[in-house]
Amino acid sequence: MSCDFLKLANAGIQGLMPYQPGKPVEEVARELNLDPDSIVKLASNENPHGPGQQALNAIQRELTELARYPDGSGYRLKAALAQKLGLSPRQITLGNGSNDLLDLVGRCWLAPGRNAVYSEYAFAVYPITTQAAGAAHKVVPARDWGHDLNAMAQAIDENTGVVFIANPNNPTGTWLSEKQLREFMAQVPEQVLVVLDEAYFEYVEESVYPDGVALLQDYPNLLVCRTFSKAYGLASLRVGYSLSSVGIAETLNRVRQPFNVNSLALEAALAALGDEAYLQQSVITNKAGMLQLETAFRELGLNYIPSVGNFICVDVGDAEAVNQALLKEGVIVRPLRPYRMNNHLRISIGLPEENQRFIDALKKVL
Ligand SMILES: Cc1ncc(COP(=O)(O)O)c(C=O)c1O
Repeated sequence: MSCDFLKLANAGIQGLMPYQPGKPVEEVARELNLDPDSIVKLASNENPHGPGQQALNAIQRELTELARYPDGSGYRLKAALAQKLGLSPRQITLGNGSNDLLDLVGRCWLAPGRNAVYSEYAFAVYPITTQAAGAAHKVVPARDWGHDLNAMAQAIDENTGVVFIANPNNPTGTWLSEKQLREFMAQVPEQVLVVLDEAYFEYVEESVYPDGVALLQDYPNLLVCRTFSKAYGLASLRVGYSLSSVGIAETLNRVRQPFNVNSLALEAALAALGDEAYLQQSVITNKAGMLQLETAFRELGLNYIPSVGNFICVDVGDAEAVNQALLKEGVIVRPLRPYRMNNHLRISIGLPEENQRFIDALKKVL
């Protein structure tokens, strides 16, 4: 008789369900017998431009080095980030995507008997990280789809190890001002780590949107996470980073896998960081695409949640049925049942023609 290894897994892990990513194009093509080239994927908040040319050139140059381990310290990428952000390289921790950093945070500061505070509708990886560490969840009801920071501050107790804040939040696209964040931080005990997840930072143009880096000097219990997966167009390579006090970074480094960021990712990220034109184009495309979708939703009389990310949530009624119908039209978007947002679909902003394909399909299936 074989053993049930799930039952033997750590208690928190037994209660986990695997993260549900957006459906890959190939899978939809296979299942619905569609031509993969005719499918539009607006489901995983990726950069529709594809990787930038400078990143591609860097990858090409690095290919001959693949037999060697990468630089485990990420020296050059950290130096470039440090210079750009006005920090010391010792304050930077590199991750295999920023998800890796969220996971490291859980391993360092969450455990049975401790808890994590985060908002309803917050990014799906916070519950996974918390649960995997065997810690308890304190999920604070959202306010207008966004984080209710006052209620989150109230939820902190003597067992709280970590508070997760996404700014802007995925999937809702809601965001917090610098004033709101500072008022919140003033209420957080100094021994509670606040993770400020800025995965979509580069897209946000609101004047009162805070730069987490500027807050670091005032709040030693703050850790800011960013990524090369979104505006920098390198989602597949898996590279993100966190910014924090040296002490926090050194703690994360104790559990970080020695070679957690591969050499293609290191080189591509370094090149992408210097490719201002690509970044600017990505932000411009996103802004225009957001307007295109908002205009269409208004014309169709659909409610949407205003978003500052590279995605937007729209209320379509029975989202599961609309999603299935869109798939048959060759359009992949993201249903939000795992977030208990059963009426909403999340659409990642694409190129103008991809957005139009989605709009036409939506008009057809509604
Ligand atoms: C809010 C938020 N944080 C973190 C991530 C993780 O991104 P990555 O691991 O690709 O850096 C995502 C990705 O969708 C996200 O939406």
